[in-house]
Amino acid sequence: MVVFLKPSLFLYNSVLLGSLPVFVGFAGLEFLDLSNNRLGGAIDLELDGLVGLRSLNLTLNNFTGSVPTRPGKSKVLKELRLTMNMFHGIIPVDIVGCRNLTLIDFSVNNISVPDRIGELSKLEVLILSSNSLSGEIPRSLRNMTSLTRFAANSNNFNGPIPAGIPKHLRNLDLSYNSLSGSIPSELLSPLNLQIVDLSNNRLNGSIPTALSPRLVKLRLGSNSLDYVIPTAAISTLQHLTYLELENNTLTGLISPELGYCQSLALLNLAQNQLSGSLPVELGNLSHLQVLKLQFNKLAGEIPIQIAQMSKLSTLNISWNSLNGSIPPSVASLKNLINMNLQGNNLSGSTPENIGSMTSLMELQLGENQLSGRIPSMPITLQIALNLSSNLFEGHIPVTLAMLTGLEILDLSNNKFSGEIPLALTQLGALTQLILSNNQLSGEIPKFSSWVFVNTSGNEGLTNSATPSTSPESKKKGKPVSLTIVLWAVAAAIFAVGGIAIFLYHY
Ligand SMILES: *[C@@H]1O[C@H](CO)[C@@H](O)[C@H](O)[C@H]1NC(C)=O
Ligand SMILES: *[C@@H]1O[C@H](CO)[C@@H](O)[C@H](O)[C@H]1NC(C)=O
Ligand SMILES: *[C@@H]1O[C@H](CO)[C@@H](O)[C@H](O)[C@H]1NC(C)=O
Ligand SMILES: *[C@@H]1O[C@H](CO)[C@@H](O)[C@H](O)[C@H]1NC(C)=O
Repeated sequence: MVVFLKPSLFLYNSVLLGSLPVFVGFAGLEFLDLSNNRLGGAIDLELDGLVGLRSLNLTLNNFTGSVPTRPGKSKVLKELRLTMNMFHGIIPVDIVGCRNLTLIDFSVNNISVPDRIGELSKLEVLILSSNSLSGEIPRSLRNMTSLTRFAANSNNFNGPIPAGIPKHLRNLDLSYNSLSGSIPSELLSPLNLQIVDLSNNRLNGSIPTALSPRLVKLRLGSNSLDYVIPTAAISTLQHLTYLELENNTLTGLISPELGYCQSLALLNLAQNQLSGSLPVELGNLSHLQVLKLQFNKLAGEIPIQIAQMSKLSTLNISWNSLNGSIPPSVASLKNLINMNLQGNNLSGSTPENIGSMTSLMELQLGENQLSGRIPSMPITLQIALNLSSNLFEGHIPVTLAMLTGLEILDLSNNKFSGEIPLALTQLGALTQLILSNNQLSGEIPKFSSWVFVNTSGNEGLTNSATPSTSPESKKKGKPVSLTIVLWAVAAAIFAVGGIAIFLYHY
């Protein structure tokens, strides 16, 4: 692509090779875009003739050496984009001479910043992501009073986050560094702040209570934050859409006030020390799509109000101490894709209407006290159906043969009895079938070679005869399984809503 609109020169997405020529006679050039070429080498005096340059974009080339800080020795340069090159070393301090810079994007190089960068007082956007920056975050940051976006994620910054935050900041990303100490109490408070990501550092102490009313996204996961979640402050945030505090050491209860955060689409409080019960007010979060509370110490019953979160697609409340039975109302969550209740103390039977869920692809119920027979399961199941380590009993239902997309079926460590339904050999997507430690009997049907089958710990099971007889048994198997499948269809007409899809299929 070559576009030459005086005073601009755009040569992006071309196949330019080699190093930069010395630009002579281009004193009027204001915009130079050479992004996405295969230009390389170091840049020295080549750009000095571009005295009118306002915007330089060298993104996605192979330039090396030091960051060019004197394009046109420019007093008018406003935007400098050098993303995805191999520039290295400390940014020469002459950069502070480019007083009119409003945007710097140096992401994905191998450079370091001088502390004097703060003298660029007109800078609005500073992106330093994915370099090998180390040391402390420049303290002079506070002097950049026009800064609206600062990204220094994916570097090796360490030490504390400096106090004094530019007060017009809208977007702050310091994730994936080694920052330590506590979060400065005013860091989250600038009135325009919308997006904050401090995840994957070593921050400790409590979460500040001074929060910008415009916060949309707050990510503080994978640190060592402790104390309680400041729910009173969080509950006033009417725009908060993503709240991610996972993998810290937060304690206390999940406060009912969280139900006031009407915009929440994602709530991740997993891997903390949260206790108490699930507040019924969570049901007010009508926009919630992802709820992750796994690996906490939550107790009590699953509130029936959970069914009001009609947009929910992921529900992960595994590895807590929840008890009582699974409320049948969960079956009305028509958008739910992953339901993970494993590792709790749930008892009673599985809701009979669970088969009517129209989106469910993964059902993890392992390590509970669930009992009784298993009902028809949603035919959308694909990722896994895991009922292991419960108290289920009765025959393995033939209706499981309708789960034609299912990849993992784990029924181990229960009290299932009777034969393994031959129809299960027709599950074309199956890769793992775990039936160990039950009370199954009869002959183990022959599964395709790619299915990993574990039937250990079932005293009554016998292996099918030598391989030479298996093709014959397979031939016999087909009509039998078809009858069984038809029977399953009949049974399902009573149980399942989505039957039309199934009949079409056959
Ligand atoms: C749910 O939590 C389990 C741990 O029990 C984890 O392995 C799994 O990846 C989580 N799934 C989702 C969809 O969050
Ligand atoms: C599960 O519940 C039983 C009683 O119903 C109780 O004895 C047991 O301690 C509970 N286990 C956990 C992990 O909460
Ligand atoms: C669930 O556990 C709580 C204690 O956390 C107990 O009071 C309640 O009786 C238990 N409910 C059931 C149904 O076991
Ligand atoms: C099924 O869930 C149990 C825990 O509930 C887990 O240990 C097991 O690995 C899971 N099975 C498969 C095949 O992933």
